[in-house]
Amino acid sequence: MADVTQQIDAISRLADEELAAVGTIAQLEQFRIKYLGAKGSIKGLMSLLGQTPKDQKPTVGQHINALKDRVSGAFEARKASFSAADSGADATDVTEPGLRPQIGNRHILAKVTNELTELFGRMGFSLASGPEVEDEFHNFIALNIPLSHPARDPLDNFYLAAETGEGQATALDRGPQEQLTLLRTQTSTVQIRVMEKQKPPIRVVIPGRVYRPDTHDDTHLSMFHQLEALVVERNVTMVDLKSTILQFAHAYFGADAKIRFRPSFFPFTEPSAEVDVWFDLPGGKSRWVELGGCGMVHPNVFKAVDVDSEQFTGWAFGFGIERIAMRKYGINNIRLFVENDVRFLEQF
Ligand code: DAH
Repeated sequence: MADVTQQIDAISRLADEELAAVGTIAQLEQFRIKYLGAKGSIKGLMSLLGQTPKDQKPTVGQHINALKDRVSGAFEARKASFSAADSGADATDVTEPGLRPQIGNRHILAKVTNELTELFGRMGFSLASGPEVEDEFHNFIALNIPLSHPARDPLDNFYLAAETGEGQATALDRGPQEQLTLLRTQTSTVQIRVMEKQKPPIRVVIPGRVYRPDTHDDTHLSMFHQLEALVVERNVTMVDLKSTILQFAHAYFGADAKIRFRPSFFPFTEPSAEVDVWFDLPGGKSRWVELGGCGMVHPNVFKAVDVDSEQFTGWAFGFGIERIAMRKYGINNIRLFVENDVRFLEQF
């Protein structure tokens, strides 16, 4: 009995020492075979049990079992630590950089719109807005665009069906009281809405969506955005208009930006001009691109909103925000703004 117990203790000590010295998976396997294998030393102890006096068998048996449990427990723990380190599965390396959640970013148009309203904000303009579904008064009549004007052609506007259900067919063919609604074609509508509510002096910018049944190409969409500006004060002149636009262009596009004014016609301004900006494009494709229109507010517009044109003058412009963004960020196709291609969107 003393003999067996001594052997148990000796094996126990050896097993502990050897397990502590194990450095590789191969050594661990050697350890397992040596102590826990079918011909291992713990199994060997079992065979000694046969020679043990009968009355001592239970105690010796218990000792051997306890040893076996302890060694296999220690072996399993060691094995687990190896596989964790190996596969990295359970191991947490707290020094590793974390997984970044994918987050989106502001759309380029929203970004440009913010930049523009902020820039004009610094020039003393406040922000205004109006509805996208408009009536003819705000989209045409008050802007000095009479019923007979070609701009009101159903082919050039998204009229919404009138209550008769004959919206488009009746667009040019109805009494003065019958107002159709349409998706606004210009943010100039909001000039009217602002002047209806507010007396001069007025100094606002109006960013917003507009709709036109245009054929899509690299610079046209049937839905796009405009930045409208309106200033109404005593004694403002074309000089204020021109210098404000130049100041904006140089602040936003850079001191070397080239801008030109071309005489033009809009029913709601007199005189009127169109504004072009020079696009420096590679491959001999450089050209002037139209930003939009501008001019001095027409007296008929003031009359429609009860502003005394003897006391006040005003100027306005309406520019395409997509065109501004294209010039600023070198974007060559307006379709990119609405295609939602992440590879495009994440560049800004
Ligand atoms: N509303 C015009 C358009 O969409 C642009 C425009 C021209 C706006 C002259 C203005 C302006 O405010 O004064 O084509």
